[in-house]
Amino acid sequence: MGAVGSKQHARVPKASKLSDVYDDNENSVATRYDTLVSAFKTQFEGEKPKTIARSPGRVNLIGEHIDYEGYSVLPMAIGLDVIVAVSVALKEEGNVEEDEAEATLSIANVDGEKYTPKEFPFDHEQEVDVKSHHWTNYVLCGFKGIFDQLKKQNKLESVLESAFMKRVKKVMVMVDGKVPLGSGLSSSSALNCAVTVALMDAFELSFTKGELSELTCLSERYSGTQSGGMDQAISIMGEKDLAKRIDFNPIGAMDVPLPTNLTFLIGNSCAVSKKAESAHKHYNLRVVECRLAAILMAKHYGEDIEKAKTRVTLREVADLYCNKGDLWTALGAVRKALNEGSYTKKQLENDEGLGDLRKIFDCENNEAFNVVLQKNDTFKLRDRARHVFSEARRVHEFQKICEGQSPRYAVSGPIYEHWCKVIGLEPDVGVASDDPTKDFGHPMYGMGKEDALAKLMHLSHESCKTQYECSCDELDELVDAFMSAGALGARLTGAGWGGCVVAVCESDIAEEILADVKKSFYEKRFQSGVANIADETNLLFKTAPSAGAAILHYDDEKGVIV
Ligand code: GLA
Repeated sequence: MGAVGSKQHARVPKASKLSDVYDDNENSVATRYDTLVSAFKTQFEGEKPKTIARSPGRVNLIGEHIDYEGYSVLPMAIGLDVIVAVSVALKEEGNVEEDEAEATLSIANVDGEKYTPKEFPFDHEQEVDVKSHHWTNYVLCGFKGIFDQLKKQNKLESVLESAFMKRVKKVMVMVDGKVPLGSGLSSSSALNCAVTVALMDAFELSFTKGELSELTCLSERYSGTQSGGMDQAISIMGEKDLAKRIDFNPIGAMDVPLPTNLTFLIGNSCAVSKKAESAHKHYNLRVVECRLAAILMAKHYGEDIEKAKTRVTLREVADLYCNKGDLWTALGAVRKALNEGSYTKKQLENDEGLGDLRKIFDCENNEAFNVVLQKNDTFKLRDRARHVFSEARRVHEFQKICEGQSPRYAVSGPIYEHWCKVIGLEPDVGVASDDPTKDFGHPMYGMGKEDALAKLMHLSHESCKTQYECSCDELDELVDAFMSAGALGARLTGAGWGGCVVAVCESDIAEEILADVKKSFYEKRFQSGVANIADETNLLFKTAPSAGAAILHYDDEKGVIV
């Protein structure tokens, strides 16, 4: 997909006023920052923050579970964010006792009862305890990522040897998060990114947005999920009023203007999606299945088995063998290369000749994959690959339509055209089907932009539900509730298996739809106690593209912003 955007070379902006970052009522935002600062002072005995940074959650409009396969995705940053205050206490020069004391990293949360504080050694080589699932794991991820990046840039030793780093006595971190946990709006990445940006600034380092996006993507894997880079990239590179097409290898963010007459709505299914805890049977299992699918496709194209085993993503294989990555060709190839249903481990290892799967996934060094292979014996490959290639097409079509192409021209490709001829359609009567040989049931011909975008979102949800199997009853019920209330389209967003739905509607009926969904989906949940009415505004709300990460100046007299 096309050129790489330019934003990745920029630095995280230093906001000069709250309205640079927030649309909300400035007084309530300022109060939130004041609360953060006073919690910081209380926790750290009068110390003042040196740096404050924020990074938002995100909603993915389309392109689910394809970032780790190398394909572009189309999210936007949302207004809910994580804010972090940091300060670094230095050892007094010549103070022998202080010189010998071990430096620490002390982490606390404004909601200290729910999110208890923890102290760690100031040691970037320490491991993240993935078995404990403590919220501070994501802070450690951010901390470690900074040093990994320095290492990558061959600067680690010089920074560690710098007068500043050698004098570090205590790094103090205070966090306040507004992105609901387990909601699929990427609270974990917002935390990791906000911490990384704040620590970077407090350590007097400077990385580009692209570097930050990549380093936070990698560092979050210390938490136990092998996630792709979408959440971190949009949290860092998001901008007000713009959705982004995020590309990978190399990372980039292209502006995607959304139709102004449409409003996006978010609803939380109230099924908590615990990404890290359930990774072995959900998220990481899908990463493994996609890799196995890529390997078998490479083998299908005649690659030597040892070579095929080095393939990591479906995109890699499609780019090499499927008409330079043509997604219709890739979809056709899936049918030939991969069996329907599931493969057992034995089948893959013996009949397909892959040998010990543990070796392919480097299980000795990768605990996340080790657990997946220990706990699963069957792997679905064809359905997963079909989802990935068809979803990558939908992202492409969605972007083209947003950019003003008529829906019927947004669909293209030689195989698509071939199949149009076979079934006697004009190529430009456009369909966004995921299977050119079977299902031409979704004509977009004559559809308006809005309906076509909604249709793509609907198809995305169907594919997530039936091919990728990452939906759940609550998500499906909420999608139906939005559609019955008059939304044009709705789909799960984020990893799935719980979390949120994103819906799109004509702006003038947004409020009506919210009221209707509240009645049909939430009221019974408020009554049964599954959801708390006090959280209503965080469960169901309108959203618009918001600003990405920012550093804010804190002035002790004037408050957070000068
Ligand atoms: C999670 C991951 C992302 C992405 C989505 C699914 O949010 O962190 O990298 O894979 O799931 O699209």
